Amino acid sequence: MMDNVEFCETDFFTSALMFNMRLRGLIPLLKHVIMDFQLTEEHLMIQKAARDFAVNELLPGVIERDEHQQFPVEQIRKLGELGFLGMMVDPKYGGAGLDTISYVLAMEEISKIDASTSVCMSVNNSLVCWGLETYGSEEQKQKYLVPLAQGQVIGAFLLSEPEAGSDATSQRTTAEDKGDYYLLNGTKNWITNGNSASTYLVIAQTHPEKGSKGINAFIVEKSWAGVTIGAKENKLGIRGSDTHSIMFQDVKVPKENRIGEDGFGFKFAMKTLAGGRIGIASQALGIASGAYELALKYSKERKAFGKEISQHQAIQFKLADMATRIEAARLLCLKAAWEKDQHLDYTLSGSMAKVFASETAMWVTTEAVQVHGGYGYVKEYHVERLMRDAKITQIYEGTSEVQRIVISRTTIGLAASGGWQPSAIGFSF
Ligand code: CAA
Repeated sequence: MMDNVEFCETDFFTSALMFNMRLRGLIPLLKHVIMDFQLTEEHLMIQKAARDFAVNELLPGVIERDEHQQFPVEQIRKLGELGFLGMMVDPKYGGAGLDTISYVLAMEEISKIDASTSVCMSVNNSLVCWGLETYGSEEQKQKYLVPLAQGQVIGAFLLSEPEAGSDATSQRTTAEDKGDYYLLNGTKNWITNGNSASTYLVIAQTHPEKGSKGINAFIVEKSWAGVTIGAKENKLGIRGSDTHSIMFQDVKVPKENRIGEDGFGFKFAMKTLAGGRIGIASQALGIASGAYELALKYSKERKAFGKEISQHQAIQFKLADMATRIEAARLLCLKAAWEKDQHLDYTLSGSMAKVFASETAMWVTTEAVQVHGGYGYVKEYHVERLMRDAKITQIYEGTSEVQRIVISRTTIGLAASGGWQPSAIGFSF
């Protein structure tokens, strides 16, 4: 009875609101801001170009590169020529001038086939190029951003240390101010593109007494005296990617290679990672949708108990859940990308996209192995590799636990950005 009364009241208020809005001429206006889930022709072309590249250039040899930990040198060179390494960079700095939605679509397609290649693409696009374009000086952009965006060289982002992973403010690498240069000393760990990159963005502590406000970000060239590349990490997944520790011993960094004001380094890292997380979320989305496509295809080929396994409800329900979670992850990725393109604060949506997509990737790939049964456990069927690759998306560019810190601080209202509503289009409670 009570429910009915509430329903009637809601109905009454909705009608009154509609009437009021009509009177004020707002209904026709709303038609113009209607939500549109369709991709543009340009988005579809980019998605197809990335898909074609992945199928034609990345699929051949992907199992061998994983097995032998081979960095995809030739494939990355071609990806750069096609503009996929500086997708969002302004054409005046050598980039493709595309939006973040295009980047998400391309990342998904590349990651469906080869996540070792897509992590290189993600770091170059959203950490290195974005960081330089947004916060670098004009001279830094001309010297470093242009070749990075054109794919002539690749970059790496050096934040993590043996004792500073999630606790990123605890930087032990020091950058001592020596007047017209900084003296860089310390060790960075688990650096993607560590040996292949020639341009490093390095985070280091200059004023330890100031904590996070004493940290700086620098552009460092791999070829400089005192830079040593450590051994390549022998990893569970993304084995084709090039992960190293990097040591700095009395490396002289010219003053003009500091990014932003003195003490801006931690904020630089956080702001850059906020966008990086959209890239890794899209990578996780791609790994999940790649595994789903393989599971779906296999389920229509494999017969058991007299029929294709896709005809068994046990498999149908798995495929239904996979498709649903993937679609939710895709929407979160696209919403975060859209917010970035609209110059809104995307820190929260990027973290939501990353935690959800990476957990989706882990779950979907595990289920995809299960659908394949014994075949799923051997290399030729690809899904075991996708399952191994999925795990890192819950760890790098902020673990799932770090994303939950970012999300909870924002939703509870403790973050610098202040209040939050359930959705950009939602009502507040
Ligand atoms: N934008 C702007 N400023 C931010 C910010 C953001 N998104 N997040 C934090 N800050 C600011 C804070 O406002 C604060 O400034 P004030 O002192 O002026 O208020 C300052 O930075 C310190 O912030 P916190 O007090 O929140 O710092 P914290 O110690 O509590 O740590 C954290 C917060 C979210 C856990 C952060 O340390 C973090 O993100 N850790 C994970 C690091 C990470 O993602 N590493 C990935 C390595 S890179 C990588 O993986 C690349 C690769 O190769 C694939």
